[in-house]
Amino acid sequence: MLIDSWGREITYLRISVTDRCNLRCVYCMPPDGINLKAHADILRYEEIAEVVRVAAQHGIREVRLTGGEPLARPGLASLVGMISVIPGIQDIAITTNAVLLARQAEALAEAGLKRVNISLDTLRPDRFERITRIGSFDQTWAGILAAERAGLTPIKINAVAMRGVNDDELLDLARLAQDHPWHVRFIEVMPVNNEAPWGEGLPNSISAYMPMREVRERLSVLNLEPVESENGAGPAREFRIPTGLGRVGFISPVSEHFCGECNRLRLTADGFLRPCLLSDQEISILPALRKGEPLLPLLQEAVGMKPRSHELVENHRPVSRCMIQIGG
Ligand code: 5AD
Ligand code: SF4
Repeated sequence: MLIDSWGREITYLRISVTDRCNLRCVYCMPPDGINLKAHADILRYEEIAEVVRVAAQHGIREVRLTGGEPLARPGLASLVGMISVIPGIQDIAITTNAVLLARQAEALAEAGLKRVNISLDTLRPDRFERITRIGSFDQTWAGILAAERAGLTPIKINAVAMRGVNDDELLDLARLAQDHPWHVRFIEVMPVNNEAPWGEGLPNSISAYMPMREVRERLSVLNLEPVESENGAGPAREFRIPTGLGRVGFISPVSEHFCGECNRLRLTADGFLRPCLLSDQEISILPALRKGEPLLPLLQEAVGMKPRSHELVENHRPVSRCMIQIGG
């Protein structure tokens, strides 16, 4: 088992499969983009599967593929297929912007993918284009519907709540959980290398920040009822609209960090184990992988480095990577 210095059992591995993305969301990457890694410095699918195999022998049960945009890496379904047959892996999901999902949902489900989380911060096409800098709402919407048809359910929608960007739409977004069996989850915007202005007429991560307490107040007309969160809800506090089909969740990484329940380890596309999203400490696993050396000591070392909790309130922020290079 992988147990950290604070007694937390690590059972969940988040794998960023690429630092590339077909969108450029304002809170996730700088306007000029990032320095992309060379292909040779990115883990091959076989190498990722090898890490999962070793991790699964030591208690990892759940895997999530992220990016950048995971579907932007060719052949992602083949990686899903390789991971879903690894003994011990009980759950495999992706976090995606869904732009390419309409084309791939069926193949992903056949390869063994269980669920998708889809990032969607607005229902207004013009605003969607502004937040993602280049995206089209219709593509993402088509992706959501295709995922539902392919049985990649429950569909989870992740909406970053941002003052001055989409805070007039929180009710509309929540109401998706009225008519659809979807889980709409609001997330506090995290300061991860995104404190520079996001662009004309837009705030930055500090002025856009809205505590979940305030988001919940804005939704009070929905009379949300708490529901017992099941496995898979992760850090979301979940509710239901009394007559609704889905759920509304709140994720407050900043205002009430859930570090005490943290069960995660991250693997970056360039082969670093990152013990904590919000701490810059990392160790490289790529040389060991390519030399055929044992991986377990590195997994144990990374788990041993997990901080007890993040220190955002003390103004300790990650500076080495943007979200696009970590995968959320
Ligand atoms: N704060 C909160 N959530 C973020 N995401 C990306 N950047 C941030 C941030 N700074 C979310 C996206 C997506 C997932 C990849 O992470 O909305 O759901
Ligand atoms: Fe791409 Fe997702 Fe980042 Fe948007 S949030 S730029 S879709 S990786």
